Amino acid sequence: MTKISMNVNGHSVSRDVEDRTLLVTYIRDHLNLTGTHIGCDTSQCGACVVHVDGKAVKSCTMLAAQADGADITTIEGLAADGVLHPVQAAFKEHHGLQCGFCTPGMIMAAADMIRRHGAKLDEPTIRAELEGNICRCTGYHNIVKAIKAAADEMASAASPASRAAEPAQAVV
Ligand code: FES
Ligand code: FES
Repeated sequence: MTKISMNVNGHSVSRDVEDRTLLVTYIRDHLNLTGTHIGCDTSQCGACVVHVDGKAVKSCTMLAAQADGADITTIEGLAADGVLHPVQAAFKEHHGLQCGFCTPGMIMAAADMIRRHGAKLDEPTIRAELEGNICRCTGYHNIVKAIKAAADEMASAASPASRAAEPAQAVV
């Protein structure tokens, strides 16, 4: 057993784990964060994607001990103060899910995609980068639409023009 510590969704956690424990097993079975799914266990499906130090990682491909000291975000940590993350809101708005099994991994992968490409994220790039995420229900069309909409929305929210349009804070 090895004691590992990490920050998960803004909380410090420490546990003793066997050296062979996968990060996905640690997240689901030790921390009870079951929004991260296991669809294959062989690095194919992407249902297990989480963010490790801000980057999308298939958590079935990594040992928990390798994430010692890391910042981890799972799907449970994406919404802030009860408000859906723009990618979550876009999946809802554009019907980017059916059974929902692949959705946590899709959303975590999409959030990282948008972080890296910003407003330049286009449909061919989204389709190419979704290669590691399998959906057995939707046919991908609405998933791609949702990711593009979220990228546009986040770019526009971050633009100087949009910030200038925000109401001025009252000075007291
Ligand atoms: Fe990790 Fe499928 S469970 S890629
Ligand atoms: Fe069912 Fe993607 S929504 S697997």
